[in-house]
Amino acid sequence: MLQRPRRNRKSEVIRQMVQETHVSAANLIFPLFIVDGENQKTEVASMPGIFRYSIDNLLREVESCMNLGLKSFDLFPNIHDDFKDKYATESYREESLYLRAIRAVKKEFPEACVITDVAMDPYSSDGHDGIVENGEILNDETLDVLGKMALAHARSGADIIAPSDMMDGRVGYIRKTLDEAGFNNVSIMSYSAKYASAFYGPFRDALNSAPKFGDKKTYQMNPANQREALIEANLDELEGADFLMVKPALAYLDVIKLIKDNTELPVAAYNVSGEYAMIKAAVQNGWLNEQRATMEVLTSIRRAGATAILTYHAKEVLLNKWL
Ligand code: PBG
Repeated sequence: MLQRPRRNRKSEVIRQMVQETHVSAANLIFPLFIVDGENQKTEVASMPGIFRYSIDNLLREVESCMNLGLKSFDLFPNIHDDFKDKYATESYREESLYLRAIRAVKKEFPEACVITDVAMDPYSSDGHDGIVENGEILNDETLDVLGKMALAHARSGADIIAPSDMMDGRVGYIRKTLDEAGFNNVSIMSYSAKYASAFYGPFRDALNSAPKFGDKKTYQMNPANQREALIEANLDELEGADFLMVKPALAYLDVIKLIKDNTELPVAAYNVSGEYAMIKAAVQNGWLNEQRATMEVLTSIRRAGATAILTYHAKEVLLNKWL
């Protein structure tokens, strides 16, 4: 045998020398759930180790992450039903929980990267990402709400705006709205290929944001489709996106790779709530080794081509020094 690939695996030093993919703290984005009130820290039942924080505790959590070298955060609000309506007006009210949280984090930690989620569902009495009329999700009417929401986030200090709604034309609409208001430095990380996935269940528990009727299949993509992701990614790029995101990550590694091969923009991937819950449940049963399973998942998402990974594992990875 002339070729013996095992020679490059014979020692730890050589294995590390030829390692093609690495995960570093700089690649990780930590999603954080926010709830109203004071001194709140409640665990999400389906996401062990993940909590909903009131703003005071959110600041402590951000501080402890910053000290670990984890500096990018994606914020999501749990909104009380009393504040929800058909048009998600709470999403751009100056004193809303979410806008107060963005301002508080940026005030205390100006060097942190705050990513904000633009979509109607946490604030919508219908639990959908767009305005609902006669059971239909309206596209163009929704853009106006998304524009107001994105502008409110920018005014509050958001570094990156992340539209997760999947309405057509929203990246261009948000870019134009931000630019006209002088926020041409605020970035857009677009959920380009967001699939109608079963893996968002625990997230909807965390935010109490499940759709009140039907599903999200008229706007989120069919899990069976790959080429269609290129249409979405190309449009978002033309409309001014700075990052293209694929979501979920694990069941869609081929889509991450496809988009990576077709753009010069950085690609992000969202390792979603259900993917986190699967690992935690198996670990709790003693069926998987947590460190190895977690690092294998994160490494495979990087290997597929994602530059940035949004993941609920971010803090534990750094806390336990798994990198
Ligand atoms: C809402 C939104 C969802 C997630 C991020 N933004 C859920 C959904 O579309 O229903 C899911 C994240 C996760 O599951 O971790 N626009």
